[in-house]
Parts: sequence; structure tokens; C-alpha cells
Amino acid sequence: MPKPATPWLSFALLAVLGLAGCGDDAAPPTASSAALAPSDPALAKIYDSSCKLCHANPASGAPQSGDAKAWQPRVAQGADSLLDHSINGFKGMPPMGMCMQCSEEEFLALISFMSGQPVQ
Ligand code: HEC
Repeated sequence: MPKPATPWLSFALLAVLGLAGCGDDAAPPTASSAALAPSDPALAKIYDSSCKLCHANPASGAPQSGDAKAWQPRVAQGADSLLDHSINGFKGMPPMGMCMQCSEEEFLALISFMSGQPVQ
């Protein structure tokens, strides 16, 4: 039995693949949270070896760095709660966020950076 629809299907498929290819060339996929880093070099170093492991990894369930929408309700709790949850842990958030030497000032600076708004 002949399959008259096949040539049309191939054409449509090629057109779709061609378009997808163009899109990939124009904008290679990058996870935006993974590309972010605090501008202060010392803070960036801390961030790199602690918070970033989860806060730039959507699979962790953590609010992602630069995701203002995800941070909005958390920031609304106020700096005291955020600091308490950073130091003592909160659900999937481990106590001290894997930065045992971090000061309260550093936690607040890291939270400000990740949430994209000043938290103090
Ligand atoms: C091992 C993974 C992990 C690391 C490392 C980590 N976090 Fe988190 N963090 C989480 C997860 C998961 C949540 C979301 C918890 C929830 O609401 O279920 C979270 C939530 C938070 C919150 C919001 C808490 C709230 O009250 O809603 C703050 C603030 C925070 N993290 C700060 C930090 C800071 C600062 C660092 C680095 C010093 C850090 N985290 C490192 C996993 C991590």
C-alpha cells in the first residue's frame, strides 16, 4: 500500500529540525543561575563552594540565584527569619548552608545576591 503522506511528513519534520537548529546556533542553552556570581571576589569564593551547589541547581529544590519570583515570598519573611533559616537550617536547606565559617554579614550578603534584592 502506498504512503502518500510520508513525503509531506518528512518535509514538515525537516522544517521543524531546521528551525530548531537555527535557534540553538543563535542562543546556546545556558542555565542563567549557573552563570551568576557575586561581584565581590571573597563572597564569590564562598558562594562557589557552598550556596551555589544547591542555589544554582534546580534539582535541589532550592530557590535559584537570580529567580526573583522564587525568592519574593522568602524575602517577605524578613532578614531575621532568613538568617535563622540559614544558620539553623530549614527543610532541605542544611544548617549554615555548608559554609561553617560564614558570618551573619556574609549570610545576608549571600542572600541579597541570590534573591537579587538587599536583605539586611
Ligand atoms: C545542600 C543544598 C543547599 C546549600 C549548600 C545551600 N542551600 Fe539554601 N536552601 C536549600 C534548599 C533546598 C532550600 C529550600 C528549602 C525549602 O523551603 O524547602 C534553601 C533555602 C534557603 C533560604 C530560604 C529559607 C526560607 O526561609 O525560605 C535561604 C535564605 C538560603 N537557603 C540561604 C543559603 C545560603 C546563604 C547558602 C550558602 C551559605 C545556602 N543556602 C546553601 C538548599 C541549600
